[in-house]
Amino acid sequence: MVLKKLKFINFRNHRLRQFDFSQTTIIIGPNTVGKTNILEAIYILSRGKSFRAEHDKDTIREGTEFAQIEADIFSHPRGEKNLHLGGGQTEDRIKLKVIFSLQKGYLSKKFLVNGVARRQYDFTSNFVSVLFTPHDIELITSSPSSRRRYIDSVLYQADKRYRTALSTYEKALKRRNRMLYDIKEGRKQYKSSDFEYFNKILIEQGSMLASKREELVNFVNESIKNIFDFTLFYDKSEMSEARLMKYHFEEQKAGVTLVGPQRDDFKFYFPRTEKPIQEFGSRGEERLTIFQLKVLEVNYLLRATSHTPVLLLDDIFSELDDTNIHKVFDLLPDQQTILTTTHREFLPKKILNKQDVSTIEL
Ligand SMILES: Nc1ncnc2c1ncn2[C@@H]1O[C@H](COP(=O)(O)OP(=O)(O)OP(=O)(O)O)[C@@H](O)[C@H]1O
Ligand SMILES: [Mg+2]
Repeated sequence: MVLKKLKFINFRNHRLRQFDFSQTTIIIGPNTVGKTNILEAIYILSRGKSFRAEHDKDTIREGTEFAQIEADIFSHPRGEKNLHLGGGQTEDRIKLKVIFSLQKGYLSKKFLVNGVARRQYDFTSNFVSVLFTPHDIELITSSPSSRRRYIDSVLYQADKRYRTALSTYEKALKRRNRMLYDIKEGRKQYKSSDFEYFNKILIEQGSMLASKREELVNFVNESIKNIFDFTLFYDKSEMSEARLMKYHFEEQKAGVTLVGPQRDDFKFYFPRTEKPIQEFGSRGEERLTIFQLKVLEVNYLLRATSHTPVLLLDDIFSELDDTNIHKVFDLLPDQQTILTTTHREFLPKKILNKQDVSTIEL
């Protein structure tokens, strides 16, 4: 998959911008010029939502009412390693467009593929990307919910059935939690048969979510890790009829569903000592763990979608030492990569002279 052109209007601090990308493109510019915002726009093209805005409407340029992101994508399943941006005969060209507009304070989102309106759910399959930002290191130390969000974001891109299962599960869970909350607050009584419908959905969809999460974790553990070795442990909260029955009384006291994928966690360990990286790892080791995870995410998405994801690397040079920067550059021929940096001097000289490497100065 290759992102060839990107154009946006009123996105974050950018009023109107247009960029062309190579196999490797390095975006160089001082702090606050809008480098991460460009990667954010590209990320939205693959997920339909931002990775850092609490509300997508925050991405609309201040003082304006709509933002638009447009891109030309070349996609040629498998054989994508040899990227000839001039265009070949077999590739598909896809035009993607996302429009965020404010209507009476509410955000309306529009997604178009080759000019045809699509639901966010369908739009997501057209462009695959993997993002690494310095903030991702918090995945190791932050709450289980952020790790679940990450795992979901990978599977969300990888598998349409996962997207459907997740959405059905979350809707049923919300309804079921409302019932439990009503009971806790003494507002309403429900018979156990009232729960049956939701229990059935949660058990069916929950086991689908768990098996895909398990498969991803196995993929990570079985893959060769040439940047940093770690194991990922799936701390699963099984959703089953027996467990729902077991916790039913406690759930009524808590006012919330106590078992299932919404309680899963994923933990990182050193493979040799089996100690948690969260407690025993240095900051550098945490960073390399997450960077390695993202490289495996590229491989996983390639296997799952038959498309090589575009790799987006935000500000990695300030975070990695020379040896690791070279490891990153060794990966570049494998997929299109878009990097950001504040200083040209952070880049190894020989990289800039390579064919297929271009820079964008902001
Ligand atoms: N909705 C918005 N409208 C206008 N400006 C915005 C909006 N959202 C964010 N900005 C501004 O965009 C600017 C650039 O942000 P961005 O994070 O892309 O910078 P950067 O080039 O990555 O900087 P750094 O090198 O510090 O990471 C910030 O000054 C931020 O305040
Ligand atoms: Mg930035």
